[in-house]
Amino acid sequence: MTQDELKKAAALAALDYIEDGSIVGVGTGSTVNHFIDGLAGMRERIRGAVSSSESSSKRLAAHGIPVFDLNDIDSIPVYVDGADEIDGSFAMIKGGGGALTREKIVAAVARRFICICDASKRVQTLGRFPLPVEVIPMARSHVARELARLGGEPRLREGFVTDNGNLILDVHGLAIDDPTGTEQGINQIVGVVTNGLFAARGADLLLLAGAAGVERLQR
Ligand code: A5P
Repeated sequence: MTQDELKKAAALAALDYIEDGSIVGVGTGSTVNHFIDGLAGMRERIRGAVSSSESSSKRLAAHGIPVFDLNDIDSIPVYVDGADEIDGSFAMIKGGGGALTREKIVAAVARRFICICDASKRVQTLGRFPLPVEVIPMARSHVARELARLGGEPRLREGFVTDNGNLILDVHGLAIDDPTGTEQGINQIVGVVTNGLFAARGADLLLLAGAAGVERLQR
């Protein structure tokens, strides 16, 4: 199977966890795109979705799935999203697509985070994938200096602006032995909006697609 076929298998497995009549939290990325396409087949059974990016909102709307403003919603049973890396304790690096801030906000409201991945995303230690950090534009140089002091090598994602009008620094070479501590430490740098570590609030269920099928791993 190709990597994209594995992504699709993980994404479609997540449909089993969608509650009738619910509003579904929807992440961003190529794996989630398969999930959205699958969700379209059951759109009569759900109320709609809350989305983590403009691109996912467009795809949902194109399928006729109502997209709600998060401020009008007080309960999301399930949030479904991919990851760039996920470790054994279900901490993740996310934000390869640049949607990390809205992803973290929707995930914070959801009762359950279901991570959908192909097996290549599973790692022993997080950090080979450069850690995305969303920054307020005027703080870019300051934040980059502070990230370098932490031992990382920040690189500006050229030509990219987030849905929130901010910039992304991709931090290479960080040794992430303590994902929760690193997540909190980077959040303390003035000018950082969010970083792509999802450790304090990691995934609750991992649907991991490999050659032998989709493993359903509970935290
Ligand atoms: C988007 O900002 C990311 O957090 C994605 O969830 C992550 O990059 C996984 O993307 P793919 O599903 O495209 O691999």
